[in-house]
Amino acid sequence: MGQHALIVGASSGIGAALALELALEGYDVGLIARRTDRLAEVAERVRARGGVAAYRAADVNDAAQLKAAIAALEEVLGPVEVIIANAGIGENTDAANLDLAHVRRVLRTNLEGVVLAIGAVLPAMTQRGHGHIGAVTSIAGMRPIPMIAAYGASKAGASAFLEALRADLRGSGVTVTDLCPGYVKTDMLKPQESGAYPPFTMDAGDTARRMVRALLAGRDSLVFPWPLAWMSRFAAMLPDALIGPLLRRLAPKPPPALPG
Ligand SMILES: NC(=O)c1ccc[n+]([C@@H]2O[C@H](COP(=O)([O-])OP(=O)(O)OC[C@H]3O[C@@H](n4cnc5c(N)ncnc54)[C@H](OP(=O)(O)O)[C@@H]3O)[C@@H](O)[C@H]2O)c1
Repeated sequence: MGQHALIVGASSGIGAALALELALEGYDVGLIARRTDRLAEVAERVRARGGVAAYRAADVNDAAQLKAAIAALEEVLGPVEVIIANAGIGENTDAANLDLAHVRRVLRTNLEGVVLAIGAVLPAMTQRGHGHIGAVTSIAGMRPIPMIAAYGASKAGASAFLEALRADLRGSGVTVTDLCPGYVKTDMLKPQESGAYPPFTMDAGDTARRMVRALLAGRDSLVFPWPLAWMSRFAAMLPDALIGPLLRRLAPKPPPALPG
């Protein structure tokens, strides 16, 4: 029996690909999300390749439900050795008609959801003195981008949380990796008006492979692909007077493509 790798947000896209990749690495995978039919399909794909998978439904906005689902999976697969907090929603923010329910939903799912998932397994990991923690953030969190204020804030918050956690956990045997991709072709990413995907869009399988490698190596972060990573770092250093007009021109118009 392999060690337990838990993916929160495992029913589609990057999360489903992470499950397949971690199973290939010899882990027994625990899968959590809200759509059980999709979780069952992912579990079946893992088993068809000779892997071990179990799943439970939970909404990351419900702390008790999430904790119960993780405990139930640990009963079947043993203590969590690897966790990837991947659950997220990509909604655009209409600043002129700010919908507070939307902002709270995005912050709670993409930021608080990451904190709750990690918090459910961290005490046992530090007690054992080993474990790998990863969360899927986004290049969109590196520089505020028009049209996605809530999404960008949630991802910037998650990256900041991971960075501080990593510093606090140094020497504990528990590693913390910020998995920070650009555009990935999944249900979340809508094509542009032309039908094309944004430049440097990656495939979910390749994305997951690179993420799992970085996580198991205990790297601090993986920001990729490199052209977008460097463009975002550069943009983050420029004052708004310089970069703002360009970002506003490039900002997606509804129906927009969500920048990674
Ligand atoms: N696609 C991109 O371009 C891109 C770029 C950068 C970062 N990301 C991030 O990558 C992660 C995965 O997204 P994806 O692109 O693979 O899109 P996706 O296919 O829509 O996957 C989102 C996953 O999150 C789960 N989820 C959402 N809300 C949840 C909730 N309240 N409780 C539990 N699970 C929830 C979904 O499951 P259920 O709906 O079944 O609950 C699904 O498994 C997200 O955090 C996203 O922000 C995506």
